[in-house]
Amino acid sequence: MTHLIGLSGSLRKASYNSALLNAAIELAPEGMTIEAGSIRGIPLYDGDLEAAAGIPPLVAQLKELIAAADGLLLVTPEYNNSIPGVFKNAIDWLSRPANDLSRVFGGKPVAIMGTSPGRFGTIMSQAAWLPVLRVLGARPWFGSPLYVSAVHKALDAEHRLVDEEVRERLRKFLAGFASFIG
Ligand SMILES: Cc1cc2nc3c(=O)[nH]c(=O)nc-3n(C[C@H](O)[C@H](O)[C@H](O)COP(=O)(O)O)c2cc1C
Repeated sequence: MTHLIGLSGSLRKASYNSALLNAAIELAPEGMTIEAGSIRGIPLYDGDLEAAAGIPPLVAQLKELIAAADGLLLVTPEYNNSIPGVFKNAIDWLSRPANDLSRVFGGKPVAIMGTSPGRFGTIMSQAAWLPVLRVLGARPWFGSPLYVSAVHKALDAEHRLVDEEVRERLRKFLAGFASFIG
């Protein structure tokens, strides 16, 4: 069984990216499970806070989930052509302390997907993740990018992914990532 941790980079209750993560959980191929982690409640990174109190408990818990998982699925919104601050902030905390980085992220298979109501479906923010994944020492998968544009048209009133074409693209994306993890 391949077990993934999925992280949505949005705190909004009605987040489209969280809806896409929920759809991934539903459509995971046989042999794969996806567990949603959460970045909610992670404080702003502050070196003084780290020096005084160490790694915040929520961050420490999430680090263990990622370390134990076979892969990480990042579901990223796009703000101003890049990674939203709350998501980057969470990764910055998760990368601490530096001597624990390779245990948590080293060689970790990582897939990125994302969605926006706009026309380009997070192309720019997904690209902005690449140098971050490099410095984390992760093993990003580039097999088949998933940019979901005009997402509001693909969801129903309860924010379930109902567009069959997008569902199929998501199934293929997850199957490709499963093969990559092997
Ligand atoms: C500060 C801010 C900047 C944004 N910049 C972009 C952008 O550069 N490209 C884009 O496609 N959407 C942009 N958006 C729109 C987001 O894609 C949209 O709010 C989306 O719903 C956020 O993801 P979520 O639904 O998962 O919270 C921006 C939204 C905010 C609040």
